[in-house]
Amino acid sequence: MYFRDKVIWITGASSGIGAELARQLAAQQARLVLTARRAEALAGVAKDCLQHTQHCTILEGDLAQAELLQELTGRAIGVYGHIDVVIHSAGISQRSTAIDTSMDTIRKIMEVNFFAAVTITKYLLPHFAARGSGHVVAISSMAGLMGFPMRTGYAASKHAVKGYFETMQTEADIPGLDITIVSPGRINTPISLSAITPTGELHGKMDEELLNGIPVSECADKILRGVARRKKHIIVARGERFLWWFWWFWHPVYLKIAHKEGMRHK
Ligand SMILES: NC(=O)c1ccc[n+]([C@@H]2O[C@H](COP(=O)([O-])OP(=O)(O)OC[C@H]3O[C@@H](n4cnc5c(N)ncnc54)[C@H](OP(=O)(O)O)[C@@H]3O)[C@@H](O)[C@H]2O)c1
Repeated sequence: MYFRDKVIWITGASSGIGAELARQLAAQQARLVLTARRAEALAGVAKDCLQHTQHCTILEGDLAQAELLQELTGRAIGVYGHIDVVIHSAGISQRSTAIDTSMDTIRKIMEVNFFAAVTITKYLLPHFAARGSGHVVAISSMAGLMGFPMRTGYAASKHAVKGYFETMQTEADIPGLDITIVSPGRINTPISLSAITPTGELHGKMDEELLNGIPVSECADKILRGVARRKKHIIVARGERFLWWFWWFWHPVYLKIAHKEGMRHK
């Protein structure tokens, strides 16, 4: 029960990995603050959580609105008076090639996946420094370790997350601050529904690869075990591990496999 009574702020808690982390943390009687845009979906997750923990609060917010993040962070701290762990799980994906993707789409993806996580962390750092403890969990992706077709902006945002938080790990200048980077492969969540297409519309369908992906409960369990052990980097992946091996040791083959896998959906 490592997380018992710990105050944990989860962004992207209305769905997928964030929602499942909330449920598993509730089972460990953590105190939760749940953030996303969709109030109804958040209420559903909170209802599940409240069956296990007495403390679960919804804090609605659109992380694409940078100007709101300082106030949102203040409110998140205010719910229980402090925060022990922040989990940056909010994210949007992409289904379009570079030539078809507008700069607005790239900026939107960067805003939610990268800038929001960094901005919220920046606002939390003085709080963590004053308390002498804090834990930042940044959900990146295997697409933060290598490129993958139809995900130029997404992969860029996840490489940026990895680069930013790994660099903070090397600085290590805030006593008591832990940082964990998570790189999932394909996890069975609805992320492809909200992925952005060339027209700027939502993809709106579940990708077959995601349906066959790692169960979200297994993913959340692995993340929480790693966070409790203060791991620096957690990889939750199956087939992508092989692709990553090729990325390291036989790059031309990686390029070919990634192309074949990713471009067949174009
Ligand atoms: N599933 C995978 O295969 C996979 C693989 C690698 C990495 N990841 C990463 O894991 C994280 C969670 O993804 P998931 O698979 O759980 O996807 P998901 O089920 O689609 O959940 C995404 C979450 O992000 C929230 N979100 C999106 N835009 C937001 C905004 N502007 N403001 C606030 N919240 C926003 C969504 O809530 P609202 O729509 O209610 O705002 C939702 O709660 C993401 O960072 C994703 O990139 C996922």
